[in-house]
Amino acid sequence: MNTLENIAREVRNTAHYVSDNVANYAGASGGTNPSGEDQIGADVWADSLFYDSLAPIEGVGEYASEERETVTDCGDGYTVAIDPLDGSSNIASNNSVGTIVGVYDAELPASGRELVASIMVLYGPYTTMTVARNDREEVQEYLLRDGHSERWGQFELPSKATVVGLAGISSNRSATFNAFATELEQEMKLRYGGATVADLAQVLEYGGLFGYPRTTPNPDGKLRVHFESAPLAHLVEAAGGGSTDGTQSILDVEPDSLHARTPTFLGNTDLIDRVERTLDE
Ligand code: AHG
Ligand code: MN
Ligand code: MN
Ligand code: MN
Repeated sequence: MNTLENIAREVRNTAHYVSDNVANYAGASGGTNPSGEDQIGADVWADSLFYDSLAPIEGVGEYASEERETVTDCGDGYTVAIDPLDGSSNIASNNSVGTIVGVYDAELPASGRELVASIMVLYGPYTTMTVARNDREEVQEYLLRDGHSERWGQFELPSKATVVGLAGISSNRSATFNAFATELEQEMKLRYGGATVADLAQVLEYGGLFGYPRTTPNPDGKLRVHFESAPLAHLVEAAGGGSTDGTQSILDVEPDSLHARTPTFLGNTDLIDRVERTLDE
């Protein structure tokens, strides 16, 4: 088994365990993460589970996490960058959450062009894992249940755009963005649930656009390049979609620090083009 297969297997096994046990951590409170945001106990718990399963893999050299200030050295090889629980504020309300993993063939900070694989786990009514690998043509989707994974077909973004989920409208500083959001919400169905993985899954299934723009509290956007935006851009672009920070593919964003953020738009390429034409991000 090669390193990427071993990483995918360990993400799957850990995701099974997270899915079965996360309820035990719904209310627990944590500290503050390196982005200065409140952590819940489940963030810290999930991070330690993924560290324990990913760091020992032969070929994994560094472990980086949304929940850890610095990168942990664990030998030679790829850098695994993880958002152990994405949308974790959804746990208390039993709404969908996810896990995002980026596998970089470089030390961080690095651009998304250094990604060799991206993995997205969605803990929904059922748990799925979607994997994009540079050494594979297709984006593979798996159903995780009973401790194993059932391979679903190749994943491709639908060509017709049906749904839109734009975050941050309430705290946006740009009238242009708010007008654009209103326009899109009149053209498509509004699907926004407060967790990027779950909101992106709507776009992957029905076609459309997910976005988290610059806002007053987060002038660079809220989502983190290494742990959320770049791995998801890698996956969406591999599935035939597009990404932008407002001016370029998110894979071309050059983060200057481990927890750097970026405005993030993911979805159908015609909508990505429209974002770049419309917004002065
Ligand atoms: P995380 O739980 O990993 O910190 O991610 C939360 C992110 C993302 O999943 C979601 O789209 C966004 O925060 C929601 O932000 P608001 O709380 O501003 O809606
Ligand atoms: Mn968080
Ligand atoms: Mn997240
Ligand atoms: Mn998280």
